[in-house]
Amino acid sequence: MAKFFINGGKKIEGEIEVESAKNALLPILSACNLIDGKVRLKKVPKFLDVLAMCDILNYLGGKTLWEEDDLIIDMSSPKCGDVPNSLADKVRASIFMLGPILARQKKVKIAYPGGCDIGLRPIDLHLSGMRALGAKVVEKNGYIYCDGSNMKGGDVILNFPSVGATENIMMAAVLTKGKTRIYNCAKEPEVVDLQNFLNACGAKVYNAGCSVIEIEGVDKLTGIEYQTIPDRIIAGTYIIACAMCGGKLTIKGAIAQENQVLLSKLSNSPCIIDVKDDKIKVKSYGRPKSFGELETAVYPGFPTDLQAQTMALQCVSEGTCMIVENLFESRFKHIPELIKMGGDISFRDRVCVVRGRDKLYGADVWASDLRGGASLVLAGLVAEGYTTISNIELIDRGYFKLEEKLTSLGLNIKRI
Ligand code: UD1
Repeated sequence: MAKFFINGGKKIEGEIEVESAKNALLPILSACNLIDGKVRLKKVPKFLDVLAMCDILNYLGGKTLWEEDDLIIDMSSPKCGDVPNSLADKVRASIFMLGPILARQKKVKIAYPGGCDIGLRPIDLHLSGMRALGAKVVEKNGYIYCDGSNMKGGDVILNFPSVGATENIMMAAVLTKGKTRIYNCAKEPEVVDLQNFLNACGAKVYNAGCSVIEIEGVDKLTGIEYQTIPDRIIAGTYIIACAMCGGKLTIKGAIAQENQVLLSKLSNSPCIIDVKDDKIKVKSYGRPKSFGELETAVYPGFPTDLQAQTMALQCVSEGTCMIVENLFESRFKHIPELIKMGGDISFRDRVCVVRGRDKLYGADVWASDLRGGASLVLAGLVAEGYTTISNIELIDRGYFKLEEKLTSLGLNIKRI
């Protein structure tokens, strides 16, 4: 099993380009099930979650082919609508296959999704959305069986603006006759990107980014060439790395507006942040200041996917910070590992208090999930001495060749 070995305490210096967003790619890969023709996705990083989605598309009878960094997907002749447990278990986003397969093939048998263990992660909103469009849904023996023969457009009201449920229902509705309205939907940039992709293929989806999305069903979608938005969580991770390590970093291809809450929280710290076109320049010249209070929230609030990395930052900041995790009930598994490195953190349920210390110290730690693993990398980069991180396959789910990128910025991290 691979590990990261980090010799901490180096300053960051250089320029890095942010890759395509994992959370935009995963629903778009599922949306390929809707398309009669070839899709070319430009500049796709080989995140493990992307590879797991390709395995599912291949199993369904599609073809996926890499041409350097471009990924070509051909779902013109799907052979089945079954997603077995062995494939669904590898990636949470396997559940995104439900809506598109249902819309195009009318019958689906899909196992419950796996993915990072950060809480219960129910899929009730996905299923009630499909039911609202007229699908028959039966849950039996660890599988979900859906029949969409009588589906038609309708009103779907989400009890919570779930990103995944919004996207799944959007994808089910684009090939379903009639008008669908999704109320209280997620407004994340990745939802807007999915709309843009679907519309470029010939769909009629309106208002993504607002709380009511409208979809007019069409008969057919055709293949296109597309590049997703940049990954705002990776951009945020680099910004935090610079604030922690000190030094100068230019992040190319990032959309600063999508990291606005993080950037404004850093305004009290000795950081100069300069945003121009698609570049964010960060210069960090002293010990960061604590954020004081932080609560995760749906977009445009503070992303839960940056909570763990921000906690690592608070561990070395001046002052005390209270962090509330509102989205997922078990998303604090990095805390015991950060404590091993000298972090002064107490927590109960979804609330933790981080008292910043001058230093962290290298230790042998364990990544329990993707973003929690990233927080340990950040802590290791700033810690005194050596850090070894195990279970880094979880980090590879959403960061591609992270060690090469950080090494190019003058930091000392190896995959062993
Ligand atoms: C997506 C992101 C993930 C991010 C999360 C929140 C992808 C591939 N993943 O995950 O990185 O952390 O948004 O920004 O885009 N919920 C229900 N019932 C449902 C669905 C969700 O109760 O049917 C609850 C969840 O338990 C959670 C909350 O809604 O408490 C948010 O989940 P959701 O927005 O659905 O997250 P994901 O789409 O799984």
